[in-house]
Amino acid sequence: MKILAIESSCDDTSAAVTVGRRVLSCVVSSQVEEHRQYGGVVPEIASRRHTENIVAVVEKALSDAEVTAEDIDAVAVTFAPGLIGALLVGVNFAKSFALAKGIPLIPVHHLRGHIAANYITSEALEPPFLALVVSGGHSHIVDVKSYTDFAVIGRTRDDAAGECFDKAARSLGMPYPGGVFLDKAAEEGDENAYRLPRPKVSDSLYDLSFSGMKTAVVNTVNTAKMKSEDINANDLAASVRRAVVDMLTDNFMRAARDLGRDRLVLAGGVSANSLLRREMTALCRQSKKELFMPELRYCGDNAAMIGVQAYFELQAGHTAGPSLNAKATMPIDRVEY
Ligand code: KG4
Ligand code: ZN
Repeated sequence: MKILAIESSCDDTSAAVTVGRRVLSCVVSSQVEEHRQYGGVVPEIASRRHTENIVAVVEKALSDAEVTAEDIDAVAVTFAPGLIGALLVGVNFAKSFALAKGIPLIPVHHLRGHIAANYITSEALEPPFLALVVSGGHSHIVDVKSYTDFAVIGRTRDDAAGECFDKAARSLGMPYPGGVFLDKAAEEGDENAYRLPRPKVSDSLYDLSFSGMKTAVVNTVNTAKMKSEDINANDLAASVRRAVVDMLTDNFMRAARDLGRDRLVLAGGVSANSLLRREMTALCRQSKKELFMPELRYCGDNAAMIGVQAYFELQAGHTAGPSLNAKATMPIDRVEY
């Protein structure tokens, strides 16, 4: 069963050919350089670039996998959540492809895809497990009961972890998206140099809040500017990274203990963060839990993870008809299309 998968939820146009958990090819065309000059993703530009790029990206994915369109048995597509205009490009392409070839169309939730990136890297990984899904738009603790049955245990009440990293990086003058630059700078800094708040959500053990942290970083930078004081960017980056990682790991490990989950999984763009990976490795060793993390190339947005999740969705009978629409928002545990 060869699946052609399409991902276009944000600023990466991606196509992949997958067989079960195996990736035959994965092509990612990033628009980041163009969006960088605006300090963030411009939705209108993203949709236009997806429209221009999608055919070439799919053709390359097919040729890299050494297959033709005739060999494809099903087509998978990210249909939610994401930028609506960007998602629609992938959804329309996938629908047309499925209709023309008379093959199944499998809608995939973007965050389910991020979790599935781990199935590529770790062949032995099977649900149930607890996942920390941290990306530019989401920060969730998700109980993965089966390949297609999910329960959200905790979530951010405001900003996502990636968003917090990106805003902090921006205030330090780093290019968009700043998470990876902040991570690099933090390696050279002192994480105890700046005191930052680690706010707790009073009525929940597992929910998170990052907006206070973001504001504290911006205020620290602005206050220093007003007083003509120097900011040590490496030190502030290290302090922010430490605070965000502490908040994420505290709640994630608490949820794992309370739910009795022994297998823990990281997912999403922020799972590339070097301190988060090191810290989770140490915590899991101490508490004798098994840790799974995606290979770095599958942490960010890519179609391979969509193809692998689609394989499990198809087994559960989750296919869509030609009226499939894209959705800007959609809970991971109550997917409807
Ligand atoms: O999953 P993703 O590629 O896109 C979304 O679905 O949002 O996540 C992108 C986010 C961005 O906020 C980016 O700055 C962050 O992941 N990110 C990182 C690192 N690499 C990417 N954040 C911290 N450390 C990193 N090494
Ligand atoms: Zn993503």
